Amino acid sequence: MSGALLVLYPGSFDPVTNGHLDIIQRACRLFDRVLVAVSTQVDKRPLFSLEERLEMLREVTAPLRRQVEVEAFDGLLVHYAVNRGAKAVIRGIRAVTDFDYEFQMSLMNRRLCEELETVFLVPAEAYTYLSSSLVKEVAGLGGSVTGLVPSQVERKLEEKLASERDRRKQSGGCRDG
Ligand code: PNS
Repeated sequence: MSGALLVLYPGSFDPVTNGHLDIIQRACRLFDRVLVAVSTQVDKRPLFSLEERLEMLREVTAPLRRQVEVEAFDGLLVHYAVNRGAKAVIRGIRAVTDFDYEFQMSLMNRRLCEELETVFLVPAEAYTYLSSSLVKEVAGLGGSVTGLVPSQVERKLEEKLASERDRRKQSGGCRDG
């Protein structure tokens, strides 16, 4: 699509939540194309592999496939954005607590690339307390995450947590490291 306005939506997506999906849907109303960019560098050991995170995102954004693409990226976000011809980066802001980190990141990105704008979007109120980390913690401790993640992701979480439990049992209950 030449001349189409492309925006990046970067993140770890470990795993994608309904809050992320809400932001993707909002971005689709503002931009012609949305490129969901999955970071290969995640600080903590991710629960899901890069391939699994990409696959889940592709599955849940399938109804938006005319506008949404999902890709992995490594290195600096600004380099990737310039290479892909993106005009802006979307980040979701759920509460004031997100703001400090997001503000720092957007200013650092601006320092690295003056032309790249950061656009903050606010998800639906129902998702303001939602994060991938909380979803993993709740699901890991046997709580329900129905309604917080797409049903496909809920199934994948159950499978993944069951296989992690088996792995731990087989290794005699010892923790990694
Ligand atoms: O979902 P997250 O973990 O909050 O996403 C953070 C992410 C991946 C967007 C951020 O860490 C990032 O942009 N990483 C790429 C490396 C980079 O450009 N670092 C400088 C950011 S100012």
